[in-house]
Amino acid sequence: MSKVVAIYGSPRRKGNTALLLQEAVRGARQEGAEVEEVVLRDLKMSPCLEIYACRNSGRCAIQDDFQKVYDSILESRAVMLASPIFFYAVSAHTKILMDRCQSLWVRKHWLEEASSDRSSPGRKGLFISVGATKGKKLFDGTLLTVRYYFEAIDCELWKSLLYRGLDFEGDVLQHPEYLEEAFQAGGDLIRALESDEAR
Ligand SMILES: Cc1cc2nc3c(=O)[nH]c(=O)nc-3n(C[C@H](O)[C@H](O)[C@H](O)COP(=O)(O)O)c2cc1C
Repeated sequence: MSKVVAIYGSPRRKGNTALLLQEAVRGARQEGAEVEEVVLRDLKMSPCLEIYACRNSGRCAIQDDFQKVYDSILESRAVMLASPIFFYAVSAHTKILMDRCQSLWVRKHWLEEASSDRSSPGRKGLFISVGATKGKKLFDGTLLTVRYYFEAIDCELWKSLLYRGLDFEGDVLQHPEYLEEAFQAGGDLIRALESDEAR
């Protein structure tokens, strides 16, 4: 059974990205995946303090809720990450998680231990984001960040679902086609993992 971690990065529990990610989780579970849901706003997580104690073991030295998320990422075959656009970037909750994963970057690049077993296919990542405005470049900076983040955690950015023009809580409910797309993506992700494994 494929293990997946779904990370909710919005401060809103029932915001647009949360509703979309819930659909992706539902799609993945329908395909038999075991999905762990992580709601960043419920966790106590310090920002990265740049002490680089992770150089010794590849593990962050700050003892807080990140430790559990670190294990969940290492155990997963796929990561589903959802964040709203805040000032053309990910939310602060999401950015704190990303920076704490510098320990995984260190593990991979300095300690030369891949965060996933090299004999098995790497992780796949689904990124979901929404912004209120409609500009062409709305997601450009964030996608650079997310690509680099996923690379650090040994995760291929398999698909991004990006929606413009959604602002107030629940705006996405006016777009059942977006929710359907997220549900499909969740299922497709698990099918893609299974086809990798069958190779
Ligand atoms: C602090 C803050 C910064 C924001 N910055 C942007 C922005 O740069 N561009 C944009 O289009 N929307 C911006 N928004 C709007 C959110 O992206 C939008 O409300 C989104 O639907 C929130 O998603 P959520 O419901 O999943 O939290 C911002 C909202 C907040 C609270």
